[in-house]
Amino acid sequence: MLQGKRIVLGITGGIAAYKGAALCSKLVQAGAEVHVIMTESAAKFVAPLTLQTLSRHPVYLDTFDERDPSVVSHIELADKADLILLAPATANTLAKLAAGLADDMLGATLLAATSPVIAAPAMNVHMYEHPATVANMELLGSRGVRFIDPGTGQLACGYVAKGRLAEPEEIVLAVERYFAAGKLLEGRKVVVTAGGTVERFDPVRYLTNDSSGKMGFAIAEAARDMGAQVTLIAGRVSQPLPGGMKIMRVESAQEMLEAANSVFDDADIVVKAAAVADYRPVVRHASKLKKTGGTLVLELEKTADILAALGERKKGQFLVGFAAETERLDEHAMDKLRRKNCDLIVGNDVSMEGAGFNGDTNAVRIFDRDGLVESLPVMSKRDAGERLLRLVAERIGSKGPKGPIS
Ligand code: PMT
Repeated sequence: MLQGKRIVLGITGGIAAYKGAALCSKLVQAGAEVHVIMTESAAKFVAPLTLQTLSRHPVYLDTFDERDPSVVSHIELADKADLILLAPATANTLAKLAAGLADDMLGATLLAATSPVIAAPAMNVHMYEHPATVANMELLGSRGVRFIDPGTGQLACGYVAKGRLAEPEEIVLAVERYFAAGKLLEGRKVVVTAGGTVERFDPVRYLTNDSSGKMGFAIAEAARDMGAQVTLIAGRVSQPLPGGMKIMRVESAQEMLEAANSVFDDADIVVKAAAVADYRPVVRHASKLKKTGGTLVLELEKTADILAALGERKKGQFLVGFAAETERLDEHAMDKLRRKNCDLIVGNDVSMEGAGFNGDTNAVRIFDRDGLVESLPVMSKRDAGERLLRLVAERIGSKGPKGPIS
């Protein structure tokens, strides 16, 4: 499963560092090319020679121990990694990563890396539950770091509680699943709408909303990374457009409807994350409205409901809607799912801290016709998008050469 994957294994200084040796061995057996970085404290628990022997590569301990003058080791390691795996990840290492500290080889490599990071924490239960550790993990999660939860059991410090490093077999499985996700939507055509719409009433003034496009972009990027052919229909957004997909720019709800209609027949999956205006001005003045005394009354008419129109037309497409709510989330989401004939709906309480418009994180509740399927706590929009698409992939089965792995 891991053939050809280059994994940087960061082993940090907890008693569970000894399990890092078994983990290294299993990753190598699964076909991965493993390069180990140990912190100074990790090297007090396990001899670097053990890891060198198991990985069949030199172990990195010191940023300044440059062996090849043609490269800078931490940059070289960071650039070539398909994945950085921190196991065990101590509270200290997580804190340093959250703060962006690069005072050792592991910290410098992590700061230079653009590859994904998976961390398997291991520590005393009180350290794990300390507000600082919780906050650091939340911050790292919002930046895209994924976590493999520690297990509950006898800890080296004597407590029987949560904090044990996940078993090496579980960690290898999680890594395999992570790489397998790259195939989950292979051969699928996915259409995502993102951002807000703009409804003009004169050449310089319009009605819009707070959508930044981040949620839709995160879904589109996750679909692309899962192997799908993606079309992104983007309204008004405040983010750079993602690469590796077809982009259709639109402004109004009407333009979004036309764009969605034009690609719908060919699509396998449509995700409507855009915040579409429900009303638009009846008249669009050709020249800038002049200020007159008193009040201005703007007459509005309903826009077309794009999601409902697609729901009526669908022939085998898997349709995912969003429901942005500020009250009675479940009830309104289920109502929209039924009325708009969706297969899944993502209930988004936009009044909740860490969720909704503009931010980098979201917390959503996903429903199908039978009710709640999954409730996702605050996490990066990218992770939420990936979790949503995994649910979709499970439901539609595979089209590409490799089947879905849930
Ligand atoms: O872009 P971000 O800043 O990251 O913010 C993300 C988000 C909050 C916009 C996103 O997570 C979200 O909740 N999107 C849906 C916003 C919305 O318009 O919800 P709604 O409950 O009003 O609409 C329900 C569904 O019908 C949505 O899928 C919407 O795209 C669709 N709709 C609505 C009106 C309309 N005329 N046509 C539609 O297709």
